[in-house]
Amino acid sequence: MRRIVLRSETDWDGWRQATRALVQAGAEPGTLTWAVSGDASPLPDAAGTFQVPRALMALASIAIQAREPERFGLLYSLVWRIGAGEKVLKDDTDPDLALVRRMALAVRADAHRMRTGLRYLPVAEDGGVRYLGWFEPAHFVLPANARLLARRYPKLRLSIVTPDGSAHWDGASLLFGDGLRHAADDEALQAWWDAHRDMVLDHASADVSVPEAEALDEAPRSPDRPAIGPVVLNEGADPDLRQAAREAGSCRRCPLYGPATQTVFGEGPAGARAMFVGEQPGDQEDTIGRPFVGPAGQLMDQAMEEAGIDRRMVYVTNAVKHFKFVARGRRRIHQTPEVPEIQACGFWLDVERTRIRPILTVAMGASAARAVLGRAVTIGRERGRPIRMADGRTVFVTVHPSYILRLPDRAAKDREYAALVGDLRLVRDLMDAG
Ligand code: URA
Repeated sequence: MRRIVLRSETDWDGWRQATRALVQAGAEPGTLTWAVSGDASPLPDAAGTFQVPRALMALASIAIQAREPERFGLLYSLVWRIGAGEKVLKDDTDPDLALVRRMALAVRADAHRMRTGLRYLPVAEDGGVRYLGWFEPAHFVLPANARLLARRYPKLRLSIVTPDGSAHWDGASLLFGDGLRHAADDEALQAWWDAHRDMVLDHASADVSVPEAEALDEAPRSPDRPAIGPVVLNEGADPDLRQAAREAGSCRRCPLYGPATQTVFGEGPAGARAMFVGEQPGDQEDTIGRPFVGPAGQLMDQAMEEAGIDRRMVYVTNAVKHFKFVARGRRRIHQTPEVPEIQACGFWLDVERTRIRPILTVAMGASAARAVLGRAVTIGRERGRPIRMADGRTVFVTVHPSYILRLPDRAAKDREYAALVGDLRLVRDLMDAG
């Protein structure tokens, strides 16, 4: 038996290098054992090249993150069989392929759970803030996910701690270090971080082979479209509005500032023709500090893209600038804002509107419509058409993307999503015409 030793549970480069050399040397799958520690047999020299379908490598880059120890050998045997001329990928009944696909599905689901379920604890650091999160993944999804998050949030300092290890992003480099077996609550996590931070960061390493991260990103994007989240710019924003955003950071106009992490102000370029208004930041927006970067934001982005609206060209904000929630254990459950809270925050919405002067304001959902129109609105009755206001403004009401996310069945979701895209196409036409 030849013993192949990889450098880590997700040593994608090591697995590819070994696989290339072994397939070319004619090493049958049954003659190999794969491990991540212990003594290794030397690899044969690789000579020549052979083609592996791109689809198989994409699948393997996900499945290698599964926790099942047999995955390395299983993936090797698929490549080996393809090298021997078998049309493995064309045979949906192939049991090995089916197993690898199931592993990849489980990894994707786990990665998604991590990205949406991670809740960050802001910890003060060197005059800034580091967002610290603890998560227990079912699979080895930390490295690729951390790379994805680092790319998505280039300006944040993030540390994600799991029992398998931790990942640390400081806006420039991504390091991997020791993990923490269990964090009962935020206090325990903070205490561990306070006690171990320097040691973890001093020993953390960038020299870790990370599987392809893109394959985990389940929302396919066209190549010219930036990732959602922090890429949406405030660089081109009006300086007065930037000043207003700073002042809103210490807003005490209603009690919602108390439990929230931070004020989430609107963002978008000066001169935006349309202003999109949501209800209030959600859990992820509260953590990150930017509007519509969580699941509702992703749906909104997708619908905008389908309707031909470039999110980077519009101003996106909320009726209420603080996240209103009730805590249940480590989870924070969204609460609809009350009318007085919407009214108190109307001050900031007015500032945004006065500075941006959009030709069209799009209110998504009942709270936004109330904030923009100043009265109670039944969405079903008023959606989908321009509403001309006495002061010359044009308002357009549609549903909130979270409404679609909450619908229980696929058919209803599809129907309502198509209706939202239909509304946004009208918005695009109004923007073009105005
Ligand atoms: N829902 C909103 O209304 N706004 C956000 O920013 C996120 C979710």
